[in-house]
Amino acid sequence: MSNRLVVVSNRVPAPGEGISPGGLVSALLPSLEASGTSVWFGWSGDTTAGPCQDRPPRRVRARGVEYALVDLSEAEVRGYYEEYGNRVLWPLMHGLTAHVADEAVAAYVSYRQVNARFARALLPLLRPDDLVWVHDYHLIPLGEELRALGWSGRTGYFHHTPVPPAEVWSSLPQGALLADAFSAYDLIGVQTERDRNNLGDILLDADVAARVAAYPISIDPERFREFTAAAAADTPPLGLPDASMLFFGVERLDYTKGIPDRLEAYEHALATSPEMRDGTRFVQWAAPSRTGVPEYQDERDAVEAAAQRVNVRFPEHPLTIDFDPHPPEVVAPALEQADVCVVSSVTDGMNLVAKEFAAVHSAENPGVLVMSDMCGAAEELTDALIFPARDIRAMSAAMRWAYYMPEHERRGRAARLRAVVDGHTSWDWLREFVTDLREVMPRTRAPEPRLVHPRPTRHERGTPPPIEVGRP
Ligand code: F6P
Repeated sequence: MSNRLVVVSNRVPAPGEGISPGGLVSALLPSLEASGTSVWFGWSGDTTAGPCQDRPPRRVRARGVEYALVDLSEAEVRGYYEEYGNRVLWPLMHGLTAHVADEAVAAYVSYRQVNARFARALLPLLRPDDLVWVHDYHLIPLGEELRALGWSGRTGYFHHTPVPPAEVWSSLPQGALLADAFSAYDLIGVQTERDRNNLGDILLDADVAARVAAYPISIDPERFREFTAAAAADTPPLGLPDASMLFFGVERLDYTKGIPDRLEAYEHALATSPEMRDGTRFVQWAAPSRTGVPEYQDERDAVEAAAQRVNVRFPEHPLTIDFDPHPPEVVAPALEQADVCVVSSVTDGMNLVAKEFAAVHSAENPGVLVMSDMCGAAEELTDALIFPARDIRAMSAAMRWAYYMPEHERRGRAARLRAVVDGHTSWDWLREFVTDLREVMPRTRAPEPRLVHPRPTRHERGTPPPIEVGRP
């Protein structure tokens, strides 16, 4: 029997919505398009001036995916998305409690209302044997809202951001309510073993905690490499730098990514290794994100100030910063052109840029990945130069080693990084989660879950049987 997969997320790559940055879309979209039968439900990206009534979602079919889209009112965008989602939950999940906006905590009311409205709009679309897969912190209570409406089908949740330690979680007034909301899910996926341990500490119900497992998200490396092959060779996306080694950073402009620290570390590297002033250039792309949120405006100022400081200090003007958004078709050849990719997140659920960089380099075209230990990807990409997050001197030292690294080491590391990414792709991630969701004893229909304690790892469980969703 095959089941239809119904994906639910706040951000939906709806046709005509332009570039949709972030790991969620890049990991899911290729697989869902190939399946030809999946439904993707979420926010249309459109906003209405007045309150939104309960009305059926707008249905659009594109490239094999059926999108079911719901508008949000201006007040909902502010309360549910900007305030509670991005000024409370986002910093909390990253353990950055100093960034939690106290005045935004009351927007929990709006957050719950939107989750309830999403559930009411989604329920009529569901068939009894659908697998519902809810994504990310915007929608933690969605499963609970669906259950309250009588939905009893299999429902899973995947958490894309890090899970903070229990003491950070409980600093939130609604921490216990949110923890309870996980009880509605039959299976709960997180990115890493660290996240699994943290969520296990947060969930008081042992049956629910036993349903949490790590499913590290990934990319489709072949598809990403196709973008590099299609790029025009005569127009390198990073330009033609007058230096032998090109450093590169690319991400959403977000304070969790540690961009000002990264630029300071590069400045420190130039100060301590003068030959790098002529020998290197740094290109930073930072696509504006969540621009309605004050903390993100502050971050742009901080990045600009750090960039200016480097270029004023060094007459070679080694740093170029670009705030334009770029689609994956342009990011891929840029990553291929870069000699060194710097990922300096303060904390990060996974960081797919690191995997994309690994995918487009090889022993023949080696690139060096410099990455903080608080990225989920650091658990897998152990051939990166990994430094302690926020440690500017250690990051600078890693950058300098990337510059001086002998060719044979460069080649060996690049080959091993690529093998890791090729060995576990977004297709594997999706197949593993969906297979487990289909096989797990549903929580709502049984007093005891059937999961073994402790839960076996993905590798111990072996290869799951084929399912409908996957590469054809
Ligand atoms: O990766 C976390 C995440 O919130 C995703 O859910 C989302 O696609 C991405 O960041 C981009 O964020 P936003 O949807 O707020 O632009």
